[in-house]
Amino acid sequence: MTPRDLSIREMSPVDIPPLLEIERVSFPVPWDADMFMIQLYLSNYAENLVILSGDRIIGYISSWYGHEEMHILSIAIAPADRGGEAAAMLLARAMERSREKGCLKAVLEVRENNGRAIRFYEKHGFTRAGRRKGYYPDSGEDALILKKDIGN
Ligand SMILES: CC(C)(COP(=O)(O)OP(=O)(O)OC[C@H]1O[C@@H](n2cnc3c(N)ncnc32)[C@H](O)[C@@H]1OP(=O)(O)O)[C@@H](O)C(=O)NCCC(=O)NCCS
Repeated sequence: MTPRDLSIREMSPVDIPPLLEIERVSFPVPWDADMFMIQLYLSNYAENLVILSGDRIIGYISSWYGHEEMHILSIAIAPADRGGEAAAMLLARAMERSREKGCLKAVLEVRENNGRAIRFYEKHGFTRAGRRKGYYPDSGEDALILKKDIGN
């Protein structure tokens, strides 16, 4: 996979079936179709992008924005497509679009045991801003709060 094969566009309902499969293999508590539909319904306050390799959906990012802050809810790349440019491209595009809407900061929660995701975000300039105790009801795990300034 080279960056030339990759393209990003807005998510639509027809993307949900392949996204559910990516969810299933990416998260302990995957989003269901309703979660994606709610995200799409809130599109005035949300950014939902998918990334394709050729015509195959390989990942997505969903975020909310408001009051100068972009809140990244979820990002996932299909396992076979990790370790390339896809996640970085998606994150960069979502931050660029949020910046255009007036956001000055990006913020997210990540499971403290999700070393790969933490490494990914820190590589892209996010820093640790706090911790939410027992944030994840399935495991009781803490969330780390990561932040990044994205204003110009
Ligand atoms: C988080 C995610 C989107 C990042 O995409 P990616 O393609 O894996 O990202 P990258 O490969 O660019 O970056 C991951 C970094 O972790 C490192 N890494 C690879 N495997 C790792 C592992 N098992 N444990 C810890 N770090 C690992 C990589 O080496 C890389 O750092 P480097 O470029 O400095 O070597 C992707 O891993 C994913 O979909 N994970 C499952 C869903 C998820 O956890 N989403 C985040 C929720 S907040």
